[in-house]
Amino acid sequence: MIPARLHPFAGLRVVLPHADGDVELRTGDLAGLVDLAAVAARGVHGPEEMPFSVPWTDCDPDERARRTFRWHVGGWSSWTAQDWRLDFVVRRAGVVVGTQSLEATDFGVLREVSTGSWLGREHQGRGTGSLMRAAVLHLAFDGLGASSARSDAFLDNPRSLAVSRRLGYRDDGLARTVRRGRVVVSQRLRLDAPQWAAGERPAVHVEGLDPVLRALLPTAP
Ligand SMILES: CC(C)(COP(=O)(O)OP(=O)(O)OC[C@H]1O[C@@H](n2cnc3c(N)ncnc32)[C@H](O)[C@@H]1OP(=O)(O)O)[C@@H](O)C(=O)NCCC(=O)NCCS
Repeated sequence: MIPARLHPFAGLRVVLPHADGDVELRTGDLAGLVDLAAVAARGVHGPEEMPFSVPWTDCDPDERARRTFRWHVGGWSSWTAQDWRLDFVVRRAGVVVGTQSLEATDFGVLREVSTGSWLGREHQGRGTGSLMRAAVLHLAFDGLGASSARSDAFLDNPRSLAVSRRLGYRDDGLARTVRRGRVVVSQRLRLDAPQWAAGERPAVHVEGLDPVLRALLPTAP
C-alpha cells in the first residue's frame, strides 16, 4: 500500500454496496491496473463503434493494454490543484471490470467536474456503468463539494447517454467534432448539485478523502 504522504490519492477508495456485487473504485491501485490493462486488451467495444473522442482503442490488444497503463500512470503523476484527474480502477464483486475517471480544471473556483468511463465488453450491460458513475458523483458532490458535473457522449452511444439520464443529468447542448475523419455529434450533459441532492442518492462509503481534499482544495477552510 502506497502511503498518502507519498501521494494524496493513494488511499482513496469509494465503495457502493450492491446485492449483485459491490462496486469498488480505487486510485493508485497498481495490481488492479495490471488487471485493467488485460481487460482493455480483451476489448472495450465492437470494431464498428468508436465511443471515444480520442480513438485510443484503435490498435492491437497489447498496445491497448500499454495505453491504458500509461493513461492511469499519467494522471497519477501529473496532477496539480488546478488541473487533476482521478482515474479509478473499478471492481465488481472483487473482479476488475473497467475504469471511471473524475477530472477538473480550476476546481477550487469553478467547482465543476467531468467524468469518463469504460468497462470491458464482457462486463457491460449489467448496471455496473450506472453504479460506478453514481459512486463517483457521490465523491464529487458530497465529498469534494462540487456544484456541477458534466459528461459528453456521441449521439450513437445510447448506453452512455442512458446512464447519464438515469442519474438525472440534463441535456446541455450539442457539439460537432471529428471522429475517424468524419463529422460526429456529441451530446453535452450536466447535473447540478441541487438535482443530485433531490435524486435517489445511493449509500456510498468513501475512505482516504482527507489527503485528497488537502491536495485539491489547499486553500479551503
Ligand atoms: C457506457 C458504459 C460505461 C455503460 O456501462 P454499462 O454497465 O454497460 O451500463 P448500464 O448497464 O449501467 O446501463 C446501460 C443503460 O443503457 C441502456 N441501453 C442499453 N442499450 C441501449 C440502446 N441500444 N438504446 C438505448 N438504451 C440502451 C440500458 O437499458 C441501461 O439503461 P437503464 O439502466 O436506464 O435501463 C459501458 O457500456 C461501456 O464501457 N461502453 C463502451 C465504452 C463507452 O462507451 N464509454 C463511454 C464513453 S462516453
